[in-house]
Amino acid sequence: PLPRPYTLPFRVPPVLRPTSTDGAADRYEIVQRTAVAEILPGVRTEIWGYNGIFPGPTIVSTSGRRTIVTHRNRLPAPVVVHLHGGRTPPEHDGYPTDLVYPEGASGHHMAGAGHTAMSGDVSMGRRDYVYPLRQPAATLWYHDHRMDFTGPGVWRGLAGFHIVHDRHELSLGLPGGDRDMPIAIMDRSFAEDGGLRYPSLDPTLTHTPGVRSPYGPGVLGDVILVNGVPWPLAPVPAVRHRLRLLNASNARRYRLVLDPPPPGGNAFVQVGTDGGLLSRPIPHDALEMAPAQRFDVVVDFGRYRPGQYVTVRNEWGDGTTADVMRFHVTARADDRSRVPDVLTAAVPLREKDAVVTRRFEFRHDTVRGMPGWTINGRAFSPTDSIMSPKLGTTEIWRLLSDFHHPIHVHLSHFQVLSRGLGGPGPYDHGPKDTVDLRPGEQMAVLVRFDDYAGRYVMHCHNLEHEDMGMMATFTTVR
Ligand code: C2O
Ligand code: CU
Repeated sequence: PLPRPYTLPFRVPPVLRPTSTDGAADRYEIVQRTAVAEILPGVRTEIWGYNGIFPGPTIVSTSGRRTIVTHRNRLPAPVVVHLHGGRTPPEHDGYPTDLVYPEGASGHHMAGAGHTAMSGDVSMGRRDYVYPLRQPAATLWYHDHRMDFTGPGVWRGLAGFHIVHDRHELSLGLPGGDRDMPIAIMDRSFAEDGGLRYPSLDPTLTHTPGVRSPYGPGVLGDVILVNGVPWPLAPVPAVRHRLRLLNASNARRYRLVLDPPPPGGNAFVQVGTDGGLLSRPIPHDALEMAPAQRFDVVVDFGRYRPGQYVTVRNEWGDGTTADVMRFHVTARADDRSRVPDVLTAAVPLREKDAVVTRRFEFRHDTVRGMPGWTINGRAFSPTDSIMSPKLGTTEIWRLLSDFHHPIHVHLSHFQVLSRGLGGPGPYDHGPKDTVDLRPGEQMAVLVRFDDYAGRYVMHCHNLEHEDMGMMATFTTVR
């Protein structure tokens, strides 16, 4: 019994309060546990949640202030936490085998994780993740990153926002407070009994990664959740709002439009992307979003009449997945926000500074005798680092693909140099951490690593591809 779209109230995930804050750091605690949520009206759905909620609580940090998050694991399986888009030292980045075992776990759980335990820095029951956040204001998110089982972990609910502000961004006059809305979009499907249906090959999520055929290309759902609510309705005053859009879906790509478009078009004025602000705002009629990407946009509901309904539609969906959410424009209100012509003076990377060119092919392949996905013909192995970029240098990476692959790099925010035969596409501007590589396409990006030496990963953020091999380890060196 799916609800009628645009009947359930929109909500934003609660902001997590620090357990302590002092001159040195803000400290937070999160308990990962199972919980029963009412996602579809009148239906009980078991989720895996940060603090038992889906999406998890939002953490709000100030750039440069150390944020320490203690995660306790009361789930029935090991977990790994990754702050996506964070510039994080390697021991806190959530390397896929740095497992946090359940509290009170015995040898039984350890054995269940098999080979992944061998190459990781494992902890029992809890782990402190330390985030220096020496990076500009941006919309980050945190999610599970366990080797071979990220797809089902995130599908069951392990994802939340982590927003970073800085003084410069706060001085711009962009819409704030209630008018700054985090919006996580995820598709899910539900079984008859209300459970989140995921086609794992191994329902115990311990031994065999991957999904049953025909789900190899990625798992899609028929219900679109916005901040965990199916197709919600959000009342908004007729003023500018900042929408922090996150595609937190496992595999679905979206093309979002406003219906009706505002008079004169340019529904969305993009001010930021994955790694922070754009140098100048970019107007769009539509937004194309691959998994894990963020688009920070300003929508001026003052261009609509009070009383009007404005629907966010997905032009790449069909049937139930073409609907996303709806705004109900209420009354006129005072609006002192603005979108300045120059957003940041951050200096872009330059092609002529690149010292190395590397080439990566993302392909469908056979992995351990089963259908899977590889990078340069290799499937992920935690014991095998494929390159050692030098900190403080710029590299060119050429990315080639056979399919849609949202390519994500840890530690670095990179820039798109070219897509196909042209320059960057309309959605490629600004500091990216995930790029939408399309079938048969070739892209070039400028990548620069700074600050932390150690072991990181780059991977496809289609979570099924990631779990089925499309990930590689690299080691940054001084
Ligand atoms: Cu959002 Cu390596 O992940
Ligand atoms: Cu992929």
